[in-house]
Amino acid sequence: MSFSSLRVACCVLRVACCVLRVACCVLRVACCVLRVACCVLRVACCLLLVACCLLLVACCLFEKKKQASNRSRSSKSKPVNPRPNQLVNTDPVSLWSTTQSEEFYGFKRWGAGHFGVDPSGNVTVEPLSDGRTICIKDVIDETVEMGMKAPYVIRFQDLLRHQVARLNTLFRQAIGEEDYAGRYRGVFPIKVNQLREVVEEIVDAGAEFDYGLEAGSKPELVIALAMHEGPDRLIICNGYKDQYYIRLAMLGRKLGKKIIIVVEQLSEVDHIIKVAAETGVEPLIGFRAKLLTRGAGKWATSTGDNAKFGLNTAEILFAAEKLRKAKLTHCLRLLHFHIGSQVPNILTIKNAVVEASRFYCQLVKMGFPMGLLDVGGGLGIDYDGSRTNFESSMNYSMAEYARDVVANIRDICIDGNVDVPDIVSESGRAVVAPHSMLVVEVFERINKRETLSVKQRPKRKHKVVRDLEGLVKNKANLGPLERFHDAVQRKEDAFALFNLGYLDLENRAAAESLYWQICEELASENSETGYIPEELHELNAVLADQYVCNFSVFQSLLDHWALKQLFPVAPLHRLDEKPTVNAILTDITCDSDGKISTFIDLQDTKDHLKLHPLNDQPYYLGVFLTGAYQDIMGDLHNLFGRVNELHVFLEDDEENGFYIEETLQGSRIRDVVVGVQYQHTDLCRRLKNQIDAATKRDAIKPREGVRLLEFYEEMLETKTYLGINHVKKKPRRGSKST
Ligand SMILES: Cc1ncc(COP(=O)(O)O)c(C=O)c1O
Repeated sequence: MSFSSLRVACCVLRVACCVLRVACCVLRVACCVLRVACCVLRVACCLLLVACCLLLVACCLFEKKKQASNRSRSSKSKPVNPRPNQLVNTDPVSLWSTTQSEEFYGFKRWGAGHFGVDPSGNVTVEPLSDGRTICIKDVIDETVEMGMKAPYVIRFQDLLRHQVARLNTLFRQAIGEEDYAGRYRGVFPIKVNQLREVVEEIVDAGAEFDYGLEAGSKPELVIALAMHEGPDRLIICNGYKDQYYIRLAMLGRKLGKKIIIVVEQLSEVDHIIKVAAETGVEPLIGFRAKLLTRGAGKWATSTGDNAKFGLNTAEILFAAEKLRKAKLTHCLRLLHFHIGSQVPNILTIKNAVVEASRFYCQLVKMGFPMGLLDVGGGLGIDYDGSRTNFESSMNYSMAEYARDVVANIRDICIDGNVDVPDIVSESGRAVVAPHSMLVVEVFERINKRETLSVKQRPKRKHKVVRDLEGLVKNKANLGPLERFHDAVQRKEDAFALFNLGYLDLENRAAAESLYWQICEELASENSETGYIPEELHELNAVLADQYVCNFSVFQSLLDHWALKQLFPVAPLHRLDEKPTVNAILTDITCDSDGKISTFIDLQDTKDHLKLHPLNDQPYYLGVFLTGAYQDIMGDLHNLFGRVNELHVFLEDDEENGFYIEETLQGSRIRDVVVGVQYQHTDLCRRLKNQIDAATKRDAIKPREGVRLLEFYEEMLETKTYLGINHVKKKPRRGSKST
């Protein structure tokens, strides 16, 4: 390599070095710029954080200021027209909305669109589901003005008519949708509510649907014969029958009524044949089949081998043969079944309809004219609104019921190559339950904690008391369940020691008071924790207040007592206030069973109900959906008689949208004593004799004797329930809640 080429190479290397140096410098500068940028970003982040904190603080201050100004505004005046969903109670302790009440008491779930809560916190009923509502507190206020007091039954007659139309319309729709060639010819079973006002309204509302009546006894048939109108409406005669029952039915036949005698027992076939021969009247006959499809719910025993009513397969064949021999083959027109009331599961209904349809097809094939298939009752009411197959609910709707009955009968008849029958159903509960409710007034609160938790200080504390005090003080050392078990043990020790004479009254009172104090602490801890062991969960019910209500469970809610049937219960006003008191309801009978201590819940049931604290104003509760069976099954336990009754109608011309068409006074004392074989004149005479004797003995003065007798006679004319007196206040429109 020459010297000059070496120099060139050197120069190139130098230039390369310079370029690299320049590149290094550029990179260094870039690094510096990035560092500066990073610093700027950090500073910006810090500034943003500070800004966020300042904003948060400002928000909190603003919210507090707003609440304070709301509070002061609401204490001055109530909002004139609060919108639905608006929070009307601004007290932070009980921040609560009417929507929350609606949800809490389940109005929308069990009310089938008929019940709700208005913005003032009062329960409303919308009988025709057409937007026109009646505020129940307005009805109560009007009865107060009229001098009528709770307890009373309110009947929403429009709702009754609505249910009749709904059932018939849904069956007609199902028949149309399923392309069914027969008709729907429903009947109302009088046994579910025999009251004239109810039957009259149903007969009237059912006229356009040829809706008939069902009787289950001679007295019910006597009513049905007189109340029934129209040649196309059926009368179905169920229940055990003697020859007089059958003669009454024949009387109806003579009048041209479509009256069908349903054979429940084999012996009735002989009676029918005999009476038909004697009277020369051709009967219309039905057979009640004893299905093997098992019912479900509380009335499941209405079907199956051991059912009280109906003919088994062999008996149906035997009865059919008897009719054939008596030349009455052409009189057999109907097959009937009834698998029990309040069937909660639609599958049970489907299965029963299929089984009965097979029976029906066989009878047609045997040469009987038939023409009617009667699916009985059983259509339920969703008392708890859970839409499940729980016994107080139902997992289907009225529309689904109608479609399933129609479709299953059609499918089996097509399969059996038999013409479809007209369909009869005897739905009672579903028609009448929603239209009536019981209104009761709470007049007393029993709170065992208030007396039992008063701190007792015995002069010399027994060890058992000291142990319980230890449990109160050292709660951190033990878990809640262990604390509860220890407290129970000490309480039982105290009881045993007292019985053996080793514990005085003061120490026993102290032990009890400490025990309840521990229970109350455990119950309040319960509400803060997630999972609660069962024993502790039950404490809420044990500690619940008793709200004493002026009514008798045995008269007004017999199925709750006898069958543990659940009814929705809710306050009728103050629903813009948060309910804070755990309570059960007790009635005024001298019977510890006279109470409502099980309530509807979405999951299973509740053993207490949250209600409002009592104040010096009347507090009214409603027991809903009581129109089926309860009106008629009540008894006279403690001689508490029938409650007052109101019949309420929608009326657009009235200021508050309704009018009370009729009021029926409840039983007076003189009415109920006559029912148990006393004459009030005899009672008065006996008392007078005693007063005379006392006057002779100078135990009372003659004038006082006269007054006492007058008072006694006056009492006979009064109602059987308690006469609770409140200071009479004029109801103010727009501020209905008290
Ligand atoms: C023969 C018969 N039909 C109809 C009914 C009415 O049933 P529900 O009220 O469930 O519709 C009953 C009542 O148990 C009944 O015994």
